Amino acid sequence: MVKKYTWDESIATGDPAIDLQHKQFFVVLYDFAGALERGNGAKELRKLLIFLKYYGEWHFGKEENSIACFNCPMAGENIEAHKHYMVTIDSLLEQIRISGVSEDLAHSSYEKLTDWLVNHIMKIDMANADHIKSCKDGT
Ligand SMILES: [Fe+2]
Ligand SMILES: [Fe+2]
Repeated sequence: MVKKYTWDESIATGDPAIDLQHKQFFVVLYDFAGALERGNGAKELRKLLIFLKYYGEWHFGKEENSIACFNCPMAGENIEAHKHYMVTIDSLLEQIRISGVSEDLAHSSYEKLTDWLVNHIMKIDMANADHIKSCKDGT
């Protein structure tokens, strides 16, 4: 049984553009969970990683720009975490290049990436979003 994740209000940052972008991560990972259940994880893994690499890069750029405007206390941590994500994706792609794909690798990659995403949004993106909100509210 593959654990599936969906976006919900408990991880809303309140920024409609950022929330929409986060939802897209969940849609793609949810689809991949379906592929894992059908035993197609190995076949789909490379495509997933390529998407997450470029989509992640684009999203992080947008997020870092809006955060930079508001001097968020966790701005640096956010950038470091994004770098960590990119390193993780690149090392998984490298692993595939060297050793090929397997269902085991597809499952462990999925767990690693969903874990990262949920924790990152809850701990860092939401804290930055709260800071931005209070700046805008003047509190
Ligand atoms: Fe984000
Ligand atoms: Fe982030």
